[in-house]
Amino acid sequence: MQRLRDSFTFRKSTTLKTAHEEFLKSLPKAELHLHIEGTLTPAQKCAIARRNGIKLPYESEADILAAQNYIGKDAAEYLKNFLAFYNEGMKILRTAQDFRDIALDHLRVCGAENVRYAEISFDPQPHTDRGVAFGAIIEGLRAGIDEAKALGVEAQLIMCINRDMPVDSAFRMLEDSKPYRDRIIGFGLDSLEEGNPPTKFLDLYAKARSEGYRLTAHCDVDQTDAVAHIRDCLDLLKVERIDHGINCVEDERLVDQLLERGVCLTACPTWRPSDTMPRRMDRIRVMHERKLKVTINSDDPGLFASGTLGAMLPAVAAEGRFSEEDLAQLMINAFEGAWLPRERRDAYVEEVRDYLAAWKRARI
Ligand code: ADE
Ligand code: ZN
Repeated sequence: MQRLRDSFTFRKSTTLKTAHEEFLKSLPKAELHLHIEGTLTPAQKCAIARRNGIKLPYESEADILAAQNYIGKDAAEYLKNFLAFYNEGMKILRTAQDFRDIALDHLRVCGAENVRYAEISFDPQPHTDRGVAFGAIIEGLRAGIDEAKALGVEAQLIMCINRDMPVDSAFRMLEDSKPYRDRIIGFGLDSLEEGNPPTKFLDLYAKARSEGYRLTAHCDVDQTDAVAHIRDCLDLLKVERIDHGINCVEDERLVDQLLERGVCLTACPTWRPSDTMPRRMDRIRVMHERKLKVTINSDDPGLFASGTLGAMLPAVAAEGRFSEEDLAQLMINAFEGAWLPRERRDAYVEEVRDYLAAWKRARI
């Protein structure tokens, strides 16, 4: 079928500074924090809705784009407003083919941007609540991932709990996932953090851990009790990675703990159409300087002006004042944080090091 992404052009603000564009184009990249439902561009939403006979609450692609300037009086309200748009947009997904198409479309972009490895999060609960079979979601996503191997792109799946939904529903999701256990690498926690702290999920995480899932959880930016949530995710949920987690820089002891444990943090400097630069760069820069294993991620590339990883990196490089060595290190952090066998991780890291060395030699 025709690529659903074709008519989408990334919107770069003309005022954005960029750096190291040539170097970044072919740098081998990895992304660990990306929601497949957040890759849906206005064009994809319109095409899939048409195919499934669904009437969207928007008249045009332009109307969908216009709704993407998320605001809120504080970070909690901002996240709530963003999630309302995100949750509305995913309602068009009904069939295994829909999931296959959006996975493959995204991974095609990864191929074009030399994103060699992606860990893709997905949110089963809102889909199964609408009557979509768990199997259709997995079969579809896995079909897209398998087809993308021919493009030189490797991907794995992270199944996420919607933290604002009842815990029972997340236990059902874990039960539903049993026949597909070998097709899902990780278990995560996303959606609305306010009122849904990590302690709500102690038993769920213990069960997921006993089933051998690799564990991560969102600790979204500037939420209530942000630092305590990061600590609870580490100590109580026993996660290996933290999604976002950039409030860690407020607490020296926490930074030391993250360093000691080698925890990978998947930061997202995404920006909205009205932003003049990537957000959160000062803290990401501090995390990098403190030698935390911080990575750069697009989170929801169809829903932010920042777009996909390859598209956003030149502005992140400029605003973070990152050198080519720094940018290579950020990608090494991502490959080292990847839930891949040791040899695969080492091979990717070596590719990044070789690329940097060859780049420097060519410029002597
Ligand atoms: N779902 C998609 N993106 C998310 C984010 N940044 N935080 C929480 N839930 C999300
Ligand atoms: Zn996220």
